[in-house]
Amino acid sequence: MYKIRTYNSLAAKGLQRFTSGQYQVGPGTSNADAVMLRSQKLHDEVLDESVIAVARAGAGVNNIPVADYAKRGIVVFNTPGANANAVKELVAAALLLGSRDIFGGMSYVQTLGDIQDSTQMHKLLEANKKRFAGSEIAGLTLGVVGLGAIGAMVANMALELGMKVVGYDPAISIESAWRLSSRVEKMNSLQALAGVADFITLHVPAIPPTLGLINEDILARCKPGTRLLNFARDEIVDLPAVIASLDSGHLGAYISDFPQPQLLGRKNALLLPHIGASTTEAEENCAMMAADQLMGFLENGNIRNSVNYPDTQMARNGGFRITFCNANVPKVLGNTLTVLADHDLNVIDMVNLSRGDFAYSIIDVENEPGADVMNAINATEHVIRARLLPPA
Ligand SMILES: NC(=O)c1ccc[n+]([C@@H]2O[C@H](COP(=O)([O-])OP(=O)(O)OC[C@H]3O[C@@H](n4cnc5c(N)ncnc54)[C@H](O)[C@@H]3O)[C@@H](O)[C@H]2O)c1
Repeated sequence: MYKIRTYNSLAAKGLQRFTSGQYQVGPGTSNADAVMLRSQKLHDEVLDESVIAVARAGAGVNNIPVADYAKRGIVVFNTPGANANAVKELVAAALLLGSRDIFGGMSYVQTLGDIQDSTQMHKLLEANKKRFAGSEIAGLTLGVVGLGAIGAMVANMALELGMKVVGYDPAISIESAWRLSSRVEKMNSLQALAGVADFITLHVPAIPPTLGLINEDILARCKPGTRLLNFARDEIVDLPAVIASLDSGHLGAYISDFPQPQLLGRKNALLLPHIGASTTEAEENCAMMAADQLMGFLENGNIRNSVNYPDTQMARNGGFRITFCNANVPKVLGNTLTVLADHDLNVIDMVNLSRGDFAYSIIDVENEPGADVMNAINATEHVIRARLLPPA
């Protein structure tokens, strides 16, 4: 029986992943093996000594003392990409809002409240509808900046909507490259992308190299009338430069999930209250992913989407499984293998990976290691925590 201590309200669909009979799950669980949470600040919490994993149902982990937990052999997980579809769908809405005056048209209709006669209303609508005409997005070019979980989905979706898609991501991951349609044209620079796009959509993290990425220079290279979509973070655009470009009419529209006071009241700024990931499904996806990752770790020692230990997975092959976290220094793996050899334990398969100051190993052995073996591994210099898992 594994015990999961929960904090915050987590989607039921996620909690239901924990197989009943095998897991005890709840906010009051003591001597927990793992913790699952959303926004609870763990910096001030004292975790049970028994906790070996923490999973956040969400992407950011600044509510978790990740580095301190790594030193204690507590593996921290997050759920990158679980909300990607939610953001992608809002970007679809933003593309349409940016091409036709849907918002203006809807607002206009609401001004006709005094008209009781439907024929009169119809006449008025027909006479005024040209004010809200726009263009179609099919055939236009979308530039996607950042082709990670969200950007790749957005790029593929835009192709399905009939757009031409160009993308820029100097550090695209192999998984994203696999996900991305081969019809997305690769741009070698942001400048080149800016020069060909009718719409630009941002899907990069807010990290020092991306702060103010969309600046005066990039905006000057954009085609007149370009519409800029920001569903990433507000710091990625240089706001005064965007406002100046909107004022001059060069930038056609700024559509953002991150309103700023200076943007309010402008017809060419369409603002949403940071609702990119606000869907029931996104919350459920995060909770399901967090639960699956915890189960994979507790039952099989596999690490997927950790923020403080290397992603390390190995298929079960019938053997007993030893896993251990250690400081990333020489000789630890060799010394551990010596313990196994000294006890005549034959290794079936193994994987050893490192990330920064820490490393993680999975070693499958044919016969069951006794308590003396596990004690010896746990006592090996620089080993932080070793576990023994029965055959699956
Ligand atoms: N609006 C919302 O509610 C909402 C919700 C979820 C995520 N987000 C934002 O969206 C961002 C992207 O999310 P994701 O899940 O796709 O992240 P991700 O990590 O999967 O992808 C980010 C991509 O950006 C690329 N990149 C980094 N620097 C770049 C640069 N200078 N130029 C071009 N590409 C660059 C990376 O190589 C990576 O492929 C997040 O960092 C977050 O800030 C917003």
